[in-house]
Amino acid sequence: MSGTDRRFFTTPIYYASGEPHIGHAYTTILTDVLARFHRQDGKDVLFLTGTDEHGQKIQDEAEKRGVEPIELCDLMAERFEEAWKTLGISYDRFIRTTEDEHKAVVTAFLKRLWDREQIYEGTYSGWYCVSDERYWTEKDIGEDRRCQICGREVTYVEEKNYFFKMSEWQDDLIKQIEDNPEWIVPEVRRNEILGFLRQPLGDLSISRPKSRLSWGIDLPFDADHVAYVWVDALINYLTASGAIDPSKPDGEQGFDDVTGSWWPADMHLVGKDILTTHSVYWPTLLMGVGLPVPRQILAHGWWVVGDTKMSKSLGNVVDPLALRETFGTDAVRWYLMREMPTGGDASYTPERFLTRYDELANVLGNLASRAISMISKYRDGIVPDSASNGLESEAHGALSEARASIARLKVHEAFASAMDLARAANVYVEERQPWAQAKDPAQASELDETLSTLAHVLVVLCALFQPVAPEKMGVLAERLGLDGVPTLDQAIATEMAGRSVTSGNPLFPRVDPTWANSED
Ligand code: MSP
Repeated sequence: MSGTDRRFFTTPIYYASGEPHIGHAYTTILTDVLARFHRQDGKDVLFLTGTDEHGQKIQDEAEKRGVEPIELCDLMAERFEEAWKTLGISYDRFIRTTEDEHKAVVTAFLKRLWDREQIYEGTYSGWYCVSDERYWTEKDIGEDRRCQICGREVTYVEEKNYFFKMSEWQDDLIKQIEDNPEWIVPEVRRNEILGFLRQPLGDLSISRPKSRLSWGIDLPFDADHVAYVWVDALINYLTASGAIDPSKPDGEQGFDDVTGSWWPADMHLVGKDILTTHSVYWPTLLMGVGLPVPRQILAHGWWVVGDTKMSKSLGNVVDPLALRETFGTDAVRWYLMREMPTGGDASYTPERFLTRYDELANVLGNLASRAISMISKYRDGIVPDSASNGLESEAHGALSEARASIARLKVHEAFASAMDLARAANVYVEERQPWAQAKDPAQASELDETLSTLAHVLVVLCALFQPVAPEKMGVLAERLGLDGVPTLDQAIATEMAGRSVTSGNPLFPRVDPTWANSED
């Protein structure tokens, strides 16, 4: 039922086998920014994230650490939740695939597929990557027999498997993509998937024999097998939507009518590495049970370090929490959102981080400090009344550009427009020279206009930057004498005359400029 006033956004659920890093943080912050932007724009939002807790990867990692899989999952779920709280993530629901509710929905989903004769028993013989839990064909792996995702050596397996008749849905899937040009964004990824679908689509193995892997959800029709972890994981989105009630008898569980729930999701945000699972496996599985497909899938690019891939073994994994210690949460969020063109790739370098930080400090932070301190100094901290607003059209322009950029999923551009408004306001200060106006009693009403204009533009900036810088915009709202950060519409209409403002420490304090060198 997510109509025009509701938005359901999801992040991937992260493997509970490793610590959160900058790649996970990027997907999650991007989702958070969209969720916050839509809340700022008056929408009712469900923002879902969580952890992917079954499968071989987890079982192996737990064994390595000498703990039970569930102990590892409990620990990592807590780590992710803590990391997200520290990074200001406003999720509404944190799902864990080991939850009873989720297990029941997976069971109901698989039973429904089975009842609809969408599943058959077969034998899989071929190559398998333990780490990525993927089967590979001889052709895929080439002569060196390595996984096409992680590069690790694959092993040969021969086992009984259950298969989902994914191939039957190939034409419907192609039609879905062709009829909805914005269904997969960006276009380059859409074309990749369409290219992939030019080959005949195979059926999908949806089970693993318990003899090899026991850490998973039992198949409802064969207790010697567990669900393939990707099938289990993808269903999390449906579980959290509240569409399916597995406690009800077949036929009444919600598969025929999702009214009243959050299904279908408005947007799945994923990295490009997991696009096939989200835009091929997931929609066809949904078609198989007769449910609507998600409304949109956004595949973002890859963060690299300098020009090398980030990897544990190279020891160059960037820790967002460490960056946060030095610069604060909002600076990390700002950098990630502003530096990576949404959908493209980007390279992390400490120099670029510093450049982006300086933008926050010198443009937005500086504007806030000088405007508030001038209102304090020249008007005893009370925003003067003035009929005219010198930056009105710029403020409206920035709001509509930001809205349009978010609608086009160009998050980096939305915040570029916001920063441009702050820049324009700094230019306005230079042009108006309030310090000179203050010296000349004949210019009292001009000074009122300057200060009132600046107070208004700060409210608009506060609302515009809130999705990316929620912590500092909360502080700014307080200093402006507001009752919390206003929505975009409220910001434009906020009456500032007569409010008392308060100065404080710089919102984005200067940092040691040699920091970047010490990071190399
Ligand atoms: N568990 C699966 C997802 C299941 S969703 C039903 C998974 N988990 S993951 O822990 O590997 O995290 C995946 C997310 O992190 C993806 O969106 C992926 O693109 C993102 N990133 C991991 N490393 C990344 C970078 N270096 N750069 C950008 N994002 C990357 O896959």
